[in-house]
Amino acid sequence: MSRALRRVAGAVGGAAVVLALAGAAVDGPLFPRGLAPVDVGAVADPDRWSATCAECHAAHVDEWAASRHAVAWTNGIFQREYRREPLDWCVRCHAPLATGGPSSVTGAAEEGVNCAVCHFREGRMVSSARAEDSPHDTWVVDGYAGAEACGGCHEFNFPFVDEDHVVRRYTDHPMQHTLSEFRAGAHSGREGECLGCHGNTPAGHRMPGGHDLGALQHALTLDVCRKSARALQLTVQNVGAGHNLPTGDLHRALRLRAWRSSAPTALWEHFFGRAFGPAPDAGKLVVVDTALRPLQAVTQAVDPRALAGRADEEVNVELRYIYTADEIPTDRNHPGEPTYAVVHSRRARVSEFPRCP
Ligand code: HEC
Ligand code: HEC
Ligand code: HEC
Ligand code: HEC
Ligand code: HEC
Repeated sequence: MSRALRRVAGAVGGAAVVLALAGAAVDGPLFPRGLAPVDVGAVADPDRWSATCAECHAAHVDEWAASRHAVAWTNGIFQREYRREPLDWCVRCHAPLATGGPSSVTGAAEEGVNCAVCHFREGRMVSSARAEDSPHDTWVVDGYAGAEACGGCHEFNFPFVDEDHVVRRYTDHPMQHTLSEFRAGAHSGREGECLGCHGNTPAGHRMPGGHDLGALQHALTLDVCRKSARALQLTVQNVGAGHNLPTGDLHRALRLRAWRSSAPTALWEHFFGRAFGPAPDAGKLVVVDTALRPLQAVTQAVDPRALAGRADEEVNVELRYIYTADEIPTDRNHPGEPTYAVVHSRRARVSEFPRCP
């Protein structure tokens, strides 16, 4: 985020309008996009832990504890990738409080993206508004709850990794571009922006996404119908995500499959996601991008005869969301949590699928 965030003086009544008074700027962006550690300032050690907040904000803490933000450092999928590429750069987004680099990921830093990461700057509480009964010396920042702020970690390019393994600058090649996808898509004017969808839990802090089956099922529809005896029509639509689907991490993929159980080798498959090739300077270039844009629907025809098996045998159709580069890891290399989720599935004889309209 390049533009300076403005500080607003004074308190705000309840959930009322934020006072838009200009003031001194926060020294630097709220989130430095992985180019520096997040600097929370002179915050007492206990205030860095979520447990300190639980006494008065139990609902926020419970929701956050069930979020991916809470496990941003500890989760098995991240840790497996990090062992392959252990850069200080990763730590700045996945354990932002570890200001001393990887070796200092202990204590509150293990909480990943925790309360202090988002809510303390220069030793003060920072938020979108200050309640009248708030005990905090709160710094109210314009746009704090908006998409740009989320983009402080959810929008970045492939980095240049210098010889000393330090990342100091980015290439022009997108690695995660969730904010740009949102801005370019059909939901860009949505009230609440990212939090209009991701903040829909009572305290707004679980922020469900691709690791939440309910969110995936809400985001995607699968429609299977029979055009003729020789053509099933499979339609997948991104009805609920405000950005491309998949978005975010480069290994994400969505696979639509059809097969007969007696003939697994005749599997039919369609891939939604990005594929990368080498870039001339550093990082990678997107060479294929079939990710579903917001509201985009894609229809594919499948000839049941190509699936082999018996003509009267059921056809399985499945839409699977995959988190990792290896969909089915070996036991030895397993990250210890699911590597995919089945979003939708159908099983019927060709004649039993509804006729296409
Ligand atoms: C002794 C009780 C108490 C503790 C402990 C506490 N808060 Fe609060 N906090 C409040 C009250 C009361 C409010 C105002 C009403 C509300 O939003 O719940 C508030 C408001 C807030 C706000 C909104 C901004 C504002 O000033 O109105 C944020 C953000 C916040 N707290 C974060 C935290 C974090 C992070 C922690 C842990 C480091 C924490 N609080 C610890 C009582 C507390
Ligand atoms: C990923 C960043 C992020 C993390 C992590 C985070 N918050 Fe927040 N929090 C926000 C945003 C953004 C808002 C403003 C929401 C709005 O204005 O709609 C907010 C608002 C609040 C509020 C004001 C009341 C409300 O719900 O709007 C409280 C209280 C609060 N957070 C407490 C916490 C506590 C406690 C934790 C740790 C368990 C925490 N937050 C972790 C981003 C975060
Ligand atoms: C300090 C950096 C940071 C900020 C700021 C931040 N995030 Fe995240 N977010 C992360 C990281 C890191 C992960 C990945 C955690 C993991 O390893 O699974 C993540 C994961 C997520 C996920 C994925 C959840 C899932 O089920 O897969 C969603 C959704 C999300 N963030 C939404 C938001 C929204 C909305 C905002 C703005 C209010 C925001 N984030 C702000 C760092 C951040
Ligand atoms: C119209 C609602 C909507 C809006 C707006 C929206 N999202 Fe999402 N988002 C979803 C849904 C539903 C999912 C679950 C499906 C998926 O993974 O794409 C999701 C998934 C995600 C994920 C997880 C992707 C993964 O790896 O599986 C992240 C990260 C994320 N959103 C961040 C954001 C950020 C940041 C913004 C704002 C720039 C935003 N979202 C705006 C609905 C929305
Ligand atoms: C600029 C911030 C940033 C940096 C730097 C960064 N990440 Fe991430 N990472 C994110 C965000 C945001 C997400 C969530 C997107 C999503 O859910 O797809 C994420 C997601 C991931 C995931 C998927 C986790 C899951 O729950 O499935 C892995 C694995 C990962 N990152 C590994 C790394 C590694 C390894 C590095 C360093 C080489 C790194 N990241 C550097 C922000 C960052």
